Amino acid sequence: MTTHQTNAAWGRLEVIAGPMFSGKSEELMRRVRRATIAGVEVAVISHALDTRADLSTVTSHIGVNIPAIAVSDVAALAEVVEAGDYDLVAIDEAQFFGPELVPLVTGLVATGVTVIVEGLCVTFDGDPFEPMPTFMALAEDVLKLTAVCTICGRDAVFHQRIVAGAETGRDGDGPVGATEIDPSHVGGLESYVARCREHFAPIS
Ligand code: ADP
Ligand code: TMP
Ligand code: MG
Repeated sequence: MTTHQTNAAWGRLEVIAGPMFSGKSEELMRRVRRATIAGVEVAVISHALDTRADLSTVTSHIGVNIPAIAVSDVAALAEVVEAGDYDLVAIDEAQFFGPELVPLVTGLVATGVTVIVEGLCVTFDGDPFEPMPTFMALAEDVLKLTAVCTICGRDAVFHQRIVAGAETGRDGDGPVGATEIDPSHVGGLESYVARCREHFAPIS
């Protein structure tokens, strides 16, 4: 008879993915609040590029926030997690960290840490936005959220960039390609709207 051994040293990868306005940050905050009540040692990480609100918070589009440690890249994130003894690491805006985030996160999970990775899985051109698709493939648990289409009210999987003159084209031949990480892409309701499949008009 085969016996199944459990290895308490392994953590867990949880993913919260979706377009802008889908409630990703709200869901991350809900999970962090629950963990905090349960006495779990939590590190909440935000990216320093996101200057929409106080850098030392994760903030939703309606202004609800929780304290966070803002870091500017994967190396700085590694320093933060190595300096503490965290059971749970919750990362907001994972798309800003790029693909180098994947080995850091899988390494943390291998040492027994539960990691929540939350971010955009699609760019404003409508293409997959790494590293979120990779995390979705590797996770124990994936929550894929949708927003509300601002034209028809149906489920929105996409977001349309509405900044004049900001078009990039799918091959990124404009000002800054959609898969590039750039401060000019940071924004909220003034720069993006949620769109369903029918009403999303990617720049071709
Ligand atoms: P995300 O981090 O996914 O961009 P947030 O958690 O910051 O989203 O904010 C979600 C909130 O945004 C919703 O609960 C709602 O109050 C608000 N909101 C504004 N526009 C929309 C929209 N088009 N669809 C859904 N929610 C929206
Ligand atoms: P949100 O998921 O909390 O709405 O935040 C998404 C952030 O990412 C916001 O600052 C806008 C930015 N962004 C990009 O950098 N590139 C993109 O392709 C899109 C759609 C948003
Ligand atoms: Mg958010």
